[in-house]
Amino acid sequence: MRAVFVTLEGGEGAGKTTQLALLAAGVEGRGWVAVTTREPGGTPLGARVRELLVRLGGDPPTPLAELLLYAADRAHHVETVIRPGLAVGRAVLCDRYADATEAYQGYGRGLPLAVVREVNRLATGGLRPHRTVVLDLSPEEGVRRSLERQRCGGGPREERFEAEAVAFHERVRAGYRAVAREDPERVRIVDASGTPVAVAERVWAEVEDLFARPGGLCPGLGAPDAGSGPSPR
Ligand code: TMP
Repeated sequence: MRAVFVTLEGGEGAGKTTQLALLAAGVEGRGWVAVTTREPGGTPLGARVRELLVRLGGDPPTPLAELLLYAADRAHHVETVIRPGLAVGRAVLCDRYADATEAYQGYGRGLPLAVVREVNRLATGGLRPHRTVVLDLSPEEGVRRSLERQRCGGGPREERFEAEAVAFHERVRAGYRAVAREDPERVRIVDASGTPVAVAERVWAEVEDLFARPGGLCPGLGAPDAGSGPSPR
């Protein structure tokens, strides 16, 4: 069965939402049926978990509780949206996935990477994307764009991570770079500065090959705890 799983990652305000829509249009232009989804919040249950995670409130979760809430959202999302989409041959395009947990809860919050990876493995059942594009932008520019978008009514105010110090966002950025260094075949860093169309061209250049030929099974697909085998490419 042809199926492709691509994830978009990046810091705050990097433009993932816009790029996901442009990518879906490009993929559908190649004859694929795209499923666009996101974490946290890609399911009705996940939308409620998202509220707990992103809003500023009086009782923020501890780092471990935060890790487990993202994992709960992911476990449910993988089983009810991502695996079913892949099983019927869709192009599943997801706004954030397990690498976000490594970057934010691992590098950003400082939880041990071994713990983060084990929790990710449980939540995903070993399912890994064929390709991950990290939209890279300076934290200052990202937070500025994100606040600007909210001021212009482009979405609800989701402040908890934007309120973090620049140093936190620098650690997240460094985390994504480390993830890309460890798995350069899957994880590609793309410069997110410039116009949405210019960025979309850079993103497309990193994923085009996946849609031009028959895809393969994602590692872990079909066997919920099959571990993380090698990338199919
Ligand atoms: P969003 O900006 O993509 O809507 O994601 C909401 C926030 O959740 C964002 O600040 C990044 C954060 N996040 C984590 O900290 N860990 C995760 O595993 C995921 C998926 C998101």
